[in-house]
Amino acid sequence: MTALPCGASRATATSEATTAMSRAPSKAEGAFGAHLATDRIAELSRMYLMNTYSRASIAPVRGSGTRLWDADGREYLDFLSGIAVCALGHSHPAVVSAVQKQVAMLLHCSNLYLIEGQALLAKALLDGSPFGKAFFCNSGAEANEAAIKLARKYARAVRHEEERYEIVTALNSFHGRTLATITATGQPKYQKGFEPLPPGFRYVPFNDVPALDRAVSDRTAAVLLEAIQGEGGVHVADEAYLKRARQVCDERGALLILDEVQTGMGRTGKMFAFEHYGIEPDAITLAKALGGGVPIGALLAKDEVAAAFTPGTHASTFGGNPLACAAALAVVETIRAEGLVERAAEVGRYFAEALRALASRFPQVAEVRGKGLMIGMELRPREGHGSEAPARAVAAACLGGGLLVNAVSDTTLRFLPPLVVSQADIDEAVAILEKAMAGVLG
Ligand SMILES: Cc1ncc(COP(=O)(O)O)c(C=O)c1O
Repeated sequence: MTALPCGASRATATSEATTAMSRAPSKAEGAFGAHLATDRIAELSRMYLMNTYSRASIAPVRGSGTRLWDADGREYLDFLSGIAVCALGHSHPAVVSAVQKQVAMLLHCSNLYLIEGQALLAKALLDGSPFGKAFFCNSGAEANEAAIKLARKYARAVRHEEERYEIVTALNSFHGRTLATITATGQPKYQKGFEPLPPGFRYVPFNDVPALDRAVSDRTAAVLLEAIQGEGGVHVADEAYLKRARQVCDERGALLILDEVQTGMGRTGKMFAFEHYGIEPDAITLAKALGGGVPIGALLAKDEVAAAFTPGTHASTFGGNPLACAAALAVVETIRAEGLVERAAEVGRYFAEALRALASRFPQVAEVRGKGLMIGMELRPREGHGSEAPARAVAAACLGGGLLVNAVSDTTLRFLPPLVVSQADIDEAVAILEKAMAGVLG
């Protein structure tokens, strides 16, 4: 047997975890319950998990609103929201209650049968939108897979155009980690080593109207774009670009699909980011914030396009199951009831202004950009000595100060606070950030 990389045996690790989980919390442990210490969680993670993530050494175990607490009881202000997932903050009572009720009622039901929550969720998402039908899956990548399949099927089954299969996407985009979606993702670093990639994808520089014009042809099934490239560094699509994308697609018979996995559900100050642009895509994809932390993805499409999917053409065992739909319905209803879309716009303006004021004190800040509560701060690469990745160093210093933010590249800090964030939270976050920037950037 291969030796384990560190001290404890697998049997010890398992029983230790089980004991910690099942032990009743002592008074001293309070509301946090019993947890392994962070170091031990890190050790077990190294021993047992595939090495796909560079993880910071904190282990959040409890959350409430904009706050998280780690296994050692340390508090953090969460300005990342599980990468745009926990839009209602952590443990929002509406989501907790909906999930608890559903768990006690029915966790799962096959799509061979009718699912009440799925029908209600589809209605809640579609009413008042340009889309007529929904398909539910479990993640953003799956939603984009479904969109790519729908675009190709629509070209073949509805328009009877056998040669129309190309998917045009933007360089620097991000659409997921399945084989088709890394291929759709216009960044070679996500594709390297996974070849051969599925054929039929073509890339254009983002925000480049002439390039899009040249790329879209009678072979194009769909143009797939993000209104704001999130993983690519918080790059906002120009209004003229998306408007022209709509026109080009109409002229050449291609679908326009927007990947709203990160921008959707109020994040940018509109329910869906395309609403900023005065255009209607033929379909959008959603995930992340949709379930408030319970995995669910969705493809919403216009009726005529959605008609290309018929029984047997696409499916998912878990997609739209009662638990996920109960959570998502609570999220959609709460976003509307609490006016969180408008709030994201308003508080987002306050946050962006605070960041711009901060930027005026640091010449190393090149730009603050974004919409609503999806904001990026671009730092100039450092010359000469020290780290070439100032955003990563600032994010690490923020973590030390109790603020969770993310460096989406070496030079771009990304802020994705919950939509329920208050001005006081923002003031506190900016103060921590300022201290971190002063320490790192000087
Ligand atoms: C725009 C966009 N599309 C797709 C995805 C993939 O989503 P998931 O990780 O749920 O598969 C992401 C994830 O970051 C994303 O930001």
